Formats: sequence, structure tokens, C-alpha cells
Amino acid sequence: DTYFTEGLPLANKKALVTAGPTHEAIDPVRYISNHSSGKMGYAIAAELRRLGADVTLVSGPTDLAPPEAVRHVAVTSAADMLEACLTHFTEADITVMGAAVADYTPKSVADLKIKKNEGKNLGIELVKTTDILATLGKRKQKGQVLIGFALETHDEHANAIDKLRRKNLDFIVLNSMRDEGAGFAGDHNKITIIDKHASMEVFELKPKTAVAQDICTRIIQLLDS
Ligand code: CTP
Ligand code: CA
Repeated sequence: DTYFTEGLPLANKKALVTAGPTHEAIDPVRYISNHSSGKMGYAIAAELRRLGADVTLVSGPTDLAPPEAVRHVAVTSAADMLEACLTHFTEADITVMGAAVADYTPKSVADLKIKKNEGKNLGIELVKTTDILATLGKRKQKGQVLIGFALETHDEHANAIDKLRRKNLDFIVLNSMRDEGAGFAGDHNKITIIDKHASMEVFELKPKTAVAQDICTRIIQLLDS
């Protein structure tokens, strides 16, 4: 590591960040996915690095260039992402699960391209993926900080608090889907950070790079406390 990190707030800390969507194959030419751009997770990885951390970014398929001086692990499916996270989690002082992991994946991948069948509908059987964050939450050791996101369209606070508790998180970042200009495909985000005591900090709509700074400020506070 040729980067000089001494004196920075996260020097000597290892971080694991996930970003982007996952692709769940249907057949050799098709997949199920979502609109995640990866920008939020990439911004967090870059900010953690700027603060001195040794960062591993596990990323689903995105159009983004990996941030400088960050270890980049490219994955495709939720199953691949789980495997990469399990490899890096044990070492990580800080883990931020920013990826929009598919909740369901096709039960089987067709070997050959599925042909259209005149006049008939097509059903694809889906099975649940493993919840990566909940899996990491079960393995979390004292001193490890684990942060998740929540994307909600209704009962957002109650649902986010429920996820925070179920997945054993230190705090959860609630993405508001209500505000114009915010959301997981664009350049801006409006978040609320909810901690273990259910106390909430509401932030303004701002660029994802600034949102990443707010999240990292909370991480540093947590590690100091
Ligand atoms: N997550 C994960 N593995 C999954 C699904 C989600 O690690 N298979 C993580 C996401 O990266 C995010 C958090 O769990 O940090 C919450 O994701 P979200 O989609 O908001 O919640 P879910 O628990 O998947 O529940 P639902 O989609 O039904 O609201
Ligand atoms: Ca989900």
C-alpha cells in the first residue's frame, strides 16, 4: 500500500462495501435485475478510502469506474456476492451493505435460450436468495460495525427499524423514495440514519458524494464511542 494513511481517522481499519445490483440469470442471454446504479456504494467506498481505510468493494455489474486505491471484486449474482462477502467480512472492521441484492433468483437457469411459445404466457419459478446482510449480522463479532440500507415505499420507519433489528445492524440508512430527485438510480439521495436505539437523524437531499460523507461521519463516531 503506497498510500499514506497515517493520522487519518480510519487508518489501520479494514472496510468491506457492496454496491450495485445483482444479475440473476434466466437463460444464457437474459437476467432479472433492478435499477441500482452503484453510485451510493462507490461513493462510500471512495470516502472510506479518503479517510484512510483499506477498502474492498464488492460490486455487482455497474457502468462505474472503480474508485482509486480500492480493492475491486466484481460479481454478478446474489450467490456470487454472498461468497465474496463471506471471504472479506471476517477481516472487516466496517461493513456497509449498499448493494441492491436481488431477493429472488430463477430456480434453475435454462441451458439454452428460451424460445417464445406462440400464444402462451411464460412463468419463471423464483426462489429466495440468501439475505447476505442478515448472514453477516449473525457472524458479527464485538468491535465490528455493520451498516445496511433500507429501501421502502410505505411504513418506512417501522420497516427500517425492523430490518435493523432482524439483521443485527449498528445503524441503517433509510433511502427516501418520496422525494423528487432522490433514489437509487440518480445522483442525489435523501436519507435518514436510524440507530439501534431507534433515534433518527434526517438529512437534506444532497449529492451522493455528500451523503457518503454523512454516513462516514457516523461510522467514525461509532468507532470512537
Ligand atoms: N440485502 C442483502 N441480501 C439480500 C437482500 C438484501 O444483503 N438477499 C441487504 C441490502 O443490501 C440492504 C438491506 O439488506 O442493505 C435491506 O435491503 P432491502 O431490499 O431494503 O430489504 P429486504 O430485507 O430485502 O426486504 P424487502 O425487500 O422485502 O423490503
Ligand atoms: Ca430486498
